[in-house]
Amino acid sequence: MKITVVGTGYVGLVSGACLAEVGNDVLCLDVNPEKIRVLKDGGIPIHEPGLDQVVARNVAAGRLHFTTDIEEAVRFGTIQFIAVGTPPDEDGSADLQYVLAAARNIGRLMNDYKVVIDKSTVPVGTADKVRAAIADELQKRGVVVPYSVVSNPEFLKEGAAVDDFMRPDRIVVGAEDDQAINLMRALYAPFQRNHEKLVIMDVRSAELTKYAANAMLATRISFMNELAVLAEKLGADIEQVRQGIGSDPRIGWHFLYAGCGYGGSCFPKDVKALIQTAAGAGQGLKVLQAVEDANDAQKLVLVHKIVRRFGEDLAGKHFALWGLAFKPNTDDMREAPSRVIIHELFKRGATVTAYDPVAMDETRRIFGDDSRLSYASRPMQALQGADALVIVTEWKEFRSPDFEAIKATLKSPAIFDGRNMYDPALPRAAGLEYEAIGRK
Ligand SMILES: NC(=O)c1ccc[n+]([C@@H]2O[C@H](COP(=O)([O-])OP(=O)(O)OC[C@H]3O[C@@H](n4cnc5c(N)ncnc54)[C@H](O)[C@@H]3O)[C@@H](O)[C@H]2O)c1
Repeated sequence: MKITVVGTGYVGLVSGACLAEVGNDVLCLDVNPEKIRVLKDGGIPIHEPGLDQVVARNVAAGRLHFTTDIEEAVRFGTIQFIAVGTPPDEDGSADLQYVLAAARNIGRLMNDYKVVIDKSTVPVGTADKVRAAIADELQKRGVVVPYSVVSNPEFLKEGAAVDDFMRPDRIVVGAEDDQAINLMRALYAPFQRNHEKLVIMDVRSAELTKYAANAMLATRISFMNELAVLAEKLGADIEQVRQGIGSDPRIGWHFLYAGCGYGGSCFPKDVKALIQTAAGAGQGLKVLQAVEDANDAQKLVLVHKIVRRFGEDLAGKHFALWGLAFKPNTDDMREAPSRVIIHELFKRGATVTAYDPVAMDETRRIFGDDSRLSYASRPMQALQGADALVIVTEWKEFRSPDFEAIKATLKSPAIFDGRNMYDPALPRAAGLEYEAIGRK
């Protein structure tokens, strides 16, 4: 099949590369010329494990191409994926300007049948807007060209995106005409060879399904975070509570970890967008509003612990910070708790030396040349001259540190662990003060 992917970011590049991997001809379009230049030069603009090999293999095989030429991109694929960003607008609703610009480009330039697939996370009703935008452009040209609009939300996780795309749990397709449904079946047949994973539904339900999934996951995290705060007050240990409930199959083990708040490009914006969608329909989503409020508060929990230990005035204090990305195995810094924590420490006069295996370039881009933030090339190097260590992302390489060496290096030997990485007995046995989330 000939496939165009509009938007070559975390979702678009992974989708395009994986669709090429199963034999399709794929052209990835982006309006960011720098991204396309990096890709054409054989680089990868994001950190995503395994993606470099899939991209290289399919570029070499002549199945995967990159362009900034909108006309070429629209002409190329019968299937046109829209995978552009849908960032929050000022009021928290999803900003659809990029999605609708992509749709207008298609309407302006298409000459034959297209299936336009919304892969971006978009509010209920967006497919109607995409359909109308294309219709409007066709009408301006005075031509009639057939097309279908399909909703096909993406559930991949950054850090495991290639595997998630190649072996999806389910493939949600919202479509209402047979021609489009048949094409979607054929498109996804290579990804569901051992059992049917396609869940076909109406377009609006598909659009809502994506928000429901992310809202549910965010809810589990905020629920555990609130209980962690309570556990500390009551002298209980949230890790033991987690083990006590996760074994219940009605609850399950996933997304039960207490921590210093969820971040990333999806949960925060999707929770906000769903709240706005509901408000637009005259309904308050009380549970979800609480999920968001709890998460905003949780991003400050480590800062409160630091202030309790060192006082409100942190002038002259220096902190080592392990982990910047919003989660391990990605360089994505969007809404990362580390950003809030660093700003809060700066606000109180402190300085920070950070270490992250892959997100330091992205952090430099965000913080510019702020002299209060420096970077270390190894975890232990970040501790030189620091009063305490703050852990924000649970990278594997932080799992088994040398606590004796940490104790010997830090001025006030304290660890503030936002991801409950350790059995508290271990750092304490080395003479470290150890503060985690919801632990005794
Ligand atoms: N990142 C994730 O883990 C993830 C997972 C599932 C769903 N999603 C959703 O997928 C969508 C894309 O997310 P992302 O993280 O890949 O975003 P991203 O910011 O990494 O990539 C979006 C890309 O689209 C490009 N773009 C914008 N307008 C364009 C246009 N008119 N034509 C061509 N390119 C254009 C941008 O330059 C950018 O490179 C969002 O709606 C997001 O919510 C993301």
